[in-house]
Amino acid sequence: MIRIKNSGEIEAMRKVGRITADILGEICAAVKAGVTTWDLDQLAIEALKARNAVGACYDYPGRSRPFPAHICVSLNDEIVHGIPSKKRKIQSGDIVSLDFVAQYGGFMGDSTRTVPVGEISDDVKKLLDVTERALYAGIEQAIEGNHVGDISFAVQCCADEAGLGIVRELVGHGVGRDMHEEPSIPNYGQKGTGPLLKAGMTLAIEPMFMLGSEKISVDTDGWTVRTADGKYAAHFEHTVLVTKDAPEILTRYGVVS
Ligand code: MF3
Ligand code: CO
Repeated sequence: MIRIKNSGEIEAMRKVGRITADILGEICAAVKAGVTTWDLDQLAIEALKARNAVGACYDYPGRSRPFPAHICVSLNDEIVHGIPSKKRKIQSGDIVSLDFVAQYGGFMGDSTRTVPVGEISDDVKKLLDVTERALYAGIEQAIEGNHVGDISFAVQCCADEAGLGIVRELVGHGVGRDMHEEPSIPNYGQKGTGPLLKAGMTLAIEPMFMLGSEKISVDTDGWTVRTADGKYAAHFEHTVLVTKDAPEILTRYGVVS
């Protein structure tokens, strides 16, 4: 069952979406050569505290152990769920995916950006541009009367046109009181298929594309998902409210609140 949020719940989703975007913006601004991924987690902890919000990634159950940090930081060939570490220093030429989920007032906001550090190659620049563009192409389809497959198809087209690989094992999802609600939103699919979208649904749309083969692997830490061939991957995500006419991006950045 896909949950439809009522007006009070939508207000709460707006509030936590704003908090999520503001904190993610702060963390992105701190990404530079010499900073450790652990430093970024500390920033997340402080930013959450300042807003009386909670980080929903911390202690999230996993296959071998709960996630031990407040933000997922994944570098270069790491796709998602990278664990912050004091030993991991960001370097010029890296791309850094920051995946963050805040919880406030009983609801969650989920958003991701991949930011470049210093000079990156044209190929990697294209990877970032196309993945972000695919996010907005998917979001455009998040209107009442469309199907989940319309989002999936729009996202897939961006990867196909650019000759990029799609991470097929990981999907977008409904989000609300729980981090992962129905429906699943694959980053590939066919128009007009899958569940019907209705006003009041809140969705996390999150394309993950890669430069090389679509094969992935999971590290022995039980969390870090990376490309099997070591080529770079990018990830962009917003929490979006489905309405009758235009999707509302609840984690939009650059908004003064
Ligand atoms: N945005 C991620 C997801 O939807 C956040 C999960 S982090 C975790 O899977 F640690 F909580 F798993
Ligand atoms: Co998500």
